[in-house]
Parts: sequence; C-alpha cells; structure tokens
Amino acid sequence: VNPDNPPRPGGLFLGGTAYTPARMRVILVGFGSVGQAFARLVEQRRESLYAAMGLSPRLVAVADTRGAAVAPGGLSADELLAAKASAGTVGASARGVPGWQPGDTAALIRETQADVVVEASPSVMANPAPAMANLMSALGSRKHAVSVNKAPLAVAMPALLELARYNRVQLRFSGTVGAGTPVLATARTLAQGDRILRVRAILNGTTNFILWRMSEQGEAYHAALAEAVRLGYAETDPSADVDGIDTCSKVVILANAVLGRRVTAGDVRVEGIRDIALERVRAARERGASVKMLGEFGVDGTLRVAPGEVPSRGPMDVPANLNAVQFTMETAGEVTLVGRGAGGPETGAAILRDLVDVWNTTPHA
Ligand SMILES: NC(=O)c1ccc[n+]([C@@H]2O[C@H](COP(=O)([O-])OP(=O)(O)OC[C@H]3O[C@@H](n4cnc5c(N)ncnc54)[C@H](OP(=O)(O)O)[C@@H]3O)[C@@H](O)[C@H]2O)c1
Repeated sequence: VNPDNPPRPGGLFLGGTAYTPARMRVILVGFGSVGQAFARLVEQRRESLYAAMGLSPRLVAVADTRGAAVAPGGLSADELLAAKASAGTVGASARGVPGWQPGDTAALIRETQADVVVEASPSVMANPAPAMANLMSALGSRKHAVSVNKAPLAVAMPALLELARYNRVQLRFSGTVGAGTPVLATARTLAQGDRILRVRAILNGTTNFILWRMSEQGEAYHAALAEAVRLGYAETDPSADVDGIDTCSKVVILANAVLGRRVTAGDVRVEGIRDIALERVRAARERGASVKMLGEFGVDGTLRVAPGEVPSRGPMDVPANLNAVQFTMETAGEVTLVGRGAGGPETGAAILRDLVDVWNTTPHA
C-alpha cells in the first residue's frame, strides 16, 4: 500500500484491521468546551466518515494558552483530554512541546504539516489580533481554515476571504452563526434558484432568554439577567450579548456569506438591550407582539442590530435561548429556521460539517 495514495473505501483490510490512513491532518487552536467536544467527535466519527467518503481526520497539533502537543501521525483525544483535566494544558500530554511560549501558535500553524486549521480560541472583539494571526498564518501557508471564532471575521472578513481566494484554500465558518443549526448551509441552499432579499434574525440566545422572561414572567431586566446568569446562559459580564456585539458579529458574517456584501463590524448600526424598560416589553405584548434583539439586513441598505418587535406566536417568537433566522426570498417568500444557537458539542459538530465540506469540494487522489 502506497501511503501517499491510499485505497478508497471499499474494503481493503490489513491484518484484519480496516486500513484508515490519515487523510486530513488537522491543527486545533483552543481546547475549551468547543475544542474538546470537537476532539471527541473526530475520534467517534472517524470510522463512519472513512467508510462513507474516505475522510479520516486526525489531530496533528493542538494548542491552548499554556501549551501545545504535536504528533505528525495523529494525537489521541483521550490523552489530550486527560492531560487537560489533570494538568490544565494539552502541553502536559506525552506529545507536549517542550519550551512552549504563549504566542507561538501562529508559528506552529505555519510550520506544522497539515491540511486544515481549526480556530476555536475565544471571540474577543476588543483584541482579535491573536486569532487573526492564526487564520492569516493558516491561509498564508496554504492550509484550509475553519473558524468558530467570530471576532476576526467581524473585523476583517472581506480581507480573510480574499486571502483564502488568493492562496486557493477555503475559509469556512458555519459554527459562528447558529452553532449546530445550519444557518449558512440553509442560506446557500435557498439562494440556489431564488434570491434572498432580506434577513431578519435572532442570533443571541442570552438576550432572547432575557426578553422572553420579561415578556412571559413580567420580570424587570435585571431579574431576568440574573436568572440567565444563574442558568449559565449568560456570563457574569454579559456586555458582548446585551450590548449587541455578538449579534453584530453574526450579522457581518451572514451578510458577507449570504449576500456577498463586503462589510465589517463598523458598517453595522448597533443598539443593545441593556436596561430595556419592562413597560416597553409589556406594551408590545398588549399589541400582540414580542420584543426581540434583532439583526437585520438586506441586498442593499443599512445593517442593523436593535431591539424590535415580531408577531406573538409567529415563527420568530421563539422561547428561552433559541435562535431564529427568517429569510425573505424573492419567489419562495418567508422561510424561517429555528434552533439552538450555542453549545460545545453542537459547535464541535459544526466544525466537522465544515471539514466534510472542505473534503467534498477539494480534489484528492
Ligand atoms: N461555546 C459555544 O456554544 C460556542 C458557539 C459558537 C461559537 N463559539 C466560539 O468558539 C470559540 C471557543 O469557544 P469555547 O466555548 O470553547 O471557549 P472556551 O471554553 O473559553 O475555550 C477557549 C480555548 O481557547 C484557548 N485559547 C485562548 N487563547 C488562545 C491562544 N492565543 N492560543 C491558543 N489557545 C488559546 C483557551 O486556552 P486555556 O484552556 O489554556 O484557557 C481555551 O482552551 C469562541 O470563539 C466562541 O465564540 C462557541
């Protein structure tokens, strides 16, 4: 068997064991809730992916803030998870890189032989530079990139798409909007044979939960926020959610991906829901409407994030921390997609979905 040209699926067995060569080498940046869920999924799904389409992804390098592990033949997810649980870093595993310095990640990406880089470090809008450097290092060294990190896309998506195009590699980001709910894939399908005119969307579960509690329970903003924190839906500092920054990032990503509008976060008019008055929510309810944090944009005109109203009990009136995206189509009219917009395993599955897309759209012998 020539390892550079391994057999297609269909039953070659060596010594009774299915021969599954490393057909997609993956560098993973970030080993938190999403990164760990993704590492588990890669192990769980490898055999079925190989049987179905010859795809056999393997982690060849993983980094967190305190360390990194590298193995050209593939790292064991169990070993990485055990090292993270016991010592707080993947660098403590048997394949840990000695002398690792925080800030070495972009060089690791550039210098490690791999096919795809997964960016799963935190989305920090105030400082997107490290994640941006990681993506630029991936694309610049001709590796495909999958980002669940919204921040670099929100500030520089047109430039990153251009860099990917120039280097003839792919930049994918389906987990950034809707997590496991396939918002971008649905948009792509809808746009085949019809035209998307407008998008109106609830893209932040935390703010939807707060506004839903205010409307259903008659709670004031701060009580509803405290409940969201208690249930783990909101951070103790919920600024990115309630000030509309998270929704703004997702609007930018959708507008670029769905409508080809080359925009960044600065092009979006943003109004949050911090301290929104209970009276406003109550008045809407009396008129048969619900107040929601809405991201809105169309083929032309303003991109906007602001509290707005949707008809009560209509498809956009989603409860708790759900997300909803309504596409207005030229021919098909309104189409609404509803689902969970967050979660480590859900987002890990979105990364795998992107890897499958890369595999299915890249020539391989
Ligand atoms: N969780 C969700 O539901 C969800 C949904 C959609 C998108 N996302 C996005 O997915 C990304 C990851 O989310 P998460 O929930 O997994 O976050 P998390 O649990 O906070 O994990 C972040 C990981 O990134 C590592 N990290 C931070 N800075 C790094 C750097 N410069 N180089 C290498 N690693 C670095 C952290 O290292 P340490 O472990 O050493 O701290 C940690 O392992 C975020 O961008 C988030 O916006 C998350």
